[in-house]
Amino acid sequence: MSVNVFISGTGSYTPDKIIPNSFFEKVGSNDEWIYKNLGIKERHVVENETTSDLVAKAGLNAIENAGLQVGDIDMIVVATTTPDRQAPSCACFVQDKIKAYQAVAFDVVAVCSGALFTIAVAHEFIKTGRYNNVLVIGADTFSTITDWERRDSVFFGDGAGALVLSQTTDKDKGFIDFDMHSDGRGKEHFTIPGGGSEQPASSDSLKNKQHYFQMNGKEVFDTAIKVVPKSIKNILKRNLISIDQIQYMIPHQPSIGILKSIAKTIGLPFERVTTNMDKYANTSGATIPLVLDETHKAGKFKKGDYLIFAAVGAGWTWGTALYKW
Ligand SMILES: CC(C)(COP(=O)(O)OP(=O)(O)OC[C@H]1O[C@@H](n2cnc3c(N)ncnc32)[C@H](O)[C@@H]1OP(=O)(O)O)[C@@H](O)C(=O)NCCC(=O)NCCS
Repeated sequence: MSVNVFISGTGSYTPDKIIPNSFFEKVGSNDEWIYKNLGIKERHVVENETTSDLVAKAGLNAIENAGLQVGDIDMIVVATTTPDRQAPSCACFVQDKIKAYQAVAFDVVAVCSGALFTIAVAHEFIKTGRYNNVLVIGADTFSTITDWERRDSVFFGDGAGALVLSQTTDKDKGFIDFDMHSDGRGKEHFTIPGGGSEQPASSDSLKNKQHYFQMNGKEVFDTAIKVVPKSIKNILKRNLISIDQIQYMIPHQPSIGILKSIAKTIGLPFERVTTNMDKYANTSGATIPLVLDETHKAGKFKKGDYLIFAAVGAGWTWGTALYKW
């Protein structure tokens, strides 16, 4: 019997320490510019916590929200660019932390599109009937790969968001379609060049700050405002759904300027774009599940609402998912 895949629970966790925009005056930035252009007021950053600590808390929160036990989880997939270590996966750290030893656990790397791609992977395992409940978690601690002496340190914050995806025989809810893309020709525009096989960690790589992220902001902006609207239009068209039927967009949040441009191009009133950038900044892999959790727990979704998930990230990677609540 064919099943649908729905979101049975959501959860999130952000670390306590908050860095306000005023902190960045020493690197030549300021609150007014950051809020106007990026939509950020403050960001949370880790102190004595690892990515898997955030993931474990968000994950347990989502399992509880789904009304399930840890033992019900068949698979754990984590989207992160900042795992605790290069090996093993962050998912294996989390499996051990929450004692979900019956679950298979692995990571997916698609940077800011990570949560969307991870949801798509989990979706396929449930849709084929192999698994019943999959814990999907997006989490990042970009504070650990940020050069705090540079002006682009304003962009990111740390956090984790989680969802449990489960099977249902209700044909009238769940994921309807995914539209996913990658283009490796964009690989230099957002990258962490050091510490891999190309430039193994060395005193030179440290001295040259190769272990911090490097971003071409203009390329990110120009690419995001082009590829995301195209993907949204594609997925709506092939499912015969109009933009007026979309109740909320649940986007990855690179900057408020990018979100406003996307909303304008697709004709979606900005009130229907869910955002929490003011509090958390860009949380990379965590953003989509984090804002989903907040919006869900604020009671905003009603049965039958159509949602559009949208993401763009390094690689390039980008895509959308259409969902009926
Ligand atoms: C970063 C971004 C705002 C820069 O704008 P830009 O027009 O492409 O590039 P510029 O470097 O010419 O900057 C434009 C102006 O903003 C100012 N500026 C850029 N970064 C700044 C910062 N962190 N703080 C204060 N001012 C800043 C520049 O000084 C410049 O001012 P000027 O016009 O008075 O000279 C824009 O490219 C952007 O939003 N990119 C998206 C990046 C992103 O979302 N990254 C996260 C996901 S990977």
